[in-house]
Amino acid sequence: MCLPIKRVWFQDTKFDIIDEVFEPSEDSFLFAENLDIHNGDEVLDLGTGCGILGVLAAQTAKSVLSVDINPYAVNCAKQNAVLNNVQYNMAFLRSDLLTALNTGVLFDLILFNAPYLPSEICEIETWIGRAWAGGFTGRDVIDRFIPQAVTHLKPFGRVLLLQSSLTDLNLTLQKFHEYGLSTVVKAERKLPFFESIHLIEAQSVP
Ligand SMILES: C[S@@+](CC[C@H](N)C(=O)[O-])C[C@H]1O[C@@H](n2cnc3c(N)ncnc32)[C@H](O)[C@@H]1O
Repeated sequence: MCLPIKRVWFQDTKFDIIDEVFEPSEDSFLFAENLDIHNGDEVLDLGTGCGILGVLAAQTAKSVLSVDINPYAVNCAKQNAVLNNVQYNMAFLRSDLLTALNTGVLFDLILFNAPYLPSEICEIETWIGRAWAGGFTGRDVIDRFIPQAVTHLKPFGRVLLLQSSLTDLNLTLQKFHEYGLSTVVKAERKLPFFESIHLIEAQSVP
């Protein structure tokens, strides 16, 4: 059990945040406001952090697997599932992206509020750094994620991916198209200093 340093609310759902775990921010809230989960969905919440998107998804979905590379985040998400009484249809896993999943494990929906900002190598030396730092172009994690995600989608399965305009939105759309997925930008929010964040929905079209 880790001691929370702060409690954050999204509507009537609460999240305790612990040291070493990304505190939900503007990007998390834009994502949460535009989560559209279908009854019966089997959902993967990748980079779960404190579990905000997974816990919200679990209120409607059939099941949610919350995954993070950060072991503190995996524990924090588990605690927040219990705090909101949705632990019964959630599971938790520490993994680098989807590498710990067996072939053939498929989802209706994969959520990822990715680390998407351009950064120096040294930024990934802390857990909080790894939550936002995407390497020199900001694309290191996103570019590894896309090919892995497409192999774990059911027919007509969807990916919701959040990233910044600083990280080449069009290149992400192009990469999804190369794997045969259709895309739409579902939501967008302008931030100060010429940056905007975008929630991309990509769907497999068999
Ligand atoms: C921007 S935070 C988002 C956290 C939470 N989903 C939210 O919206 O508030 C990105 C999360 O991705 C996790 N992450 C970074 N690289 C990862 C990787 N290679 N595999 C799995 N998770 C990763 C970080 O530890 C962090 O929790």
